[in-house]
Amino acid sequence: MRTRTAIVAAAVVLAGSCGGEPPAGPPFRTDNTVQMLMANMLDPAADLLWDAVGTILDENGETYWEPETEEDWLQVKLGAVALAEAANLLIMEGRARDQDQWVSMSQDMADAAMLAFDAAAAEDPDRIFDLGEVVYETCNNCHTLYWVDDADRGRAIEPGT
Ligand code: HEC
Repeated sequence: MRTRTAIVAAAVVLAGSCGGEPPAGPPFRTDNTVQMLMANMLDPAADLLWDAVGTILDENGETYWEPETEEDWLQVKLGAVALAEAANLLIMEGRARDQDQWVSMSQDMADAAMLAFDAAAAEDPDRIFDLGEVVYETCNNCHTLYWVDDADRGRAIEPGT
């Protein structure tokens, strides 16, 4: 009986120190590139915010639109939550260009997107319009640093190069 207890204790110690490797974590897949996410997730999601409220001036005069139905507001909320969660996708290992400004700029985008979510929950079109600008600034801040200009489109730069 005494021996058996000793063996069990030894097995527990062994299991606890298995290889000394950190736990692997969930099997995240990051084979969609940053560019894929930008073109197919962030950009369409941002459009749901930017196109939700607006005014056009043409020969018919001024046309103003804003979300009207529950469905319309749900689209705005979809855009906001998709952007907020996209920030998590951008800072994943394999996508993050660094652990500094890339991360804080992604989080700024998430913060702005969640303010837009709150505005959509409150069905406040003026605030959605204003926050569209705030969200745009967060996209632009990152593009200024990591995606230089038209000549360099498609070629993401490392900071400091
Ligand atoms: C954390 C940094 C970061 C943030 C935040 C960010 N982007 Fe980007 N974006 C990039 C980088 C880097 C590229 C260049 C990707 C490449 O070519 O590898 C890019 C490229 C793009 C492209 C071009 C994709 C293509 O087809 O080449 C679009 C469109 C775009 N971003 C939209 C947005 C929008 C809209 C937002 C905000 C809602 C946003 N991005 C926020 C880093 C960011």
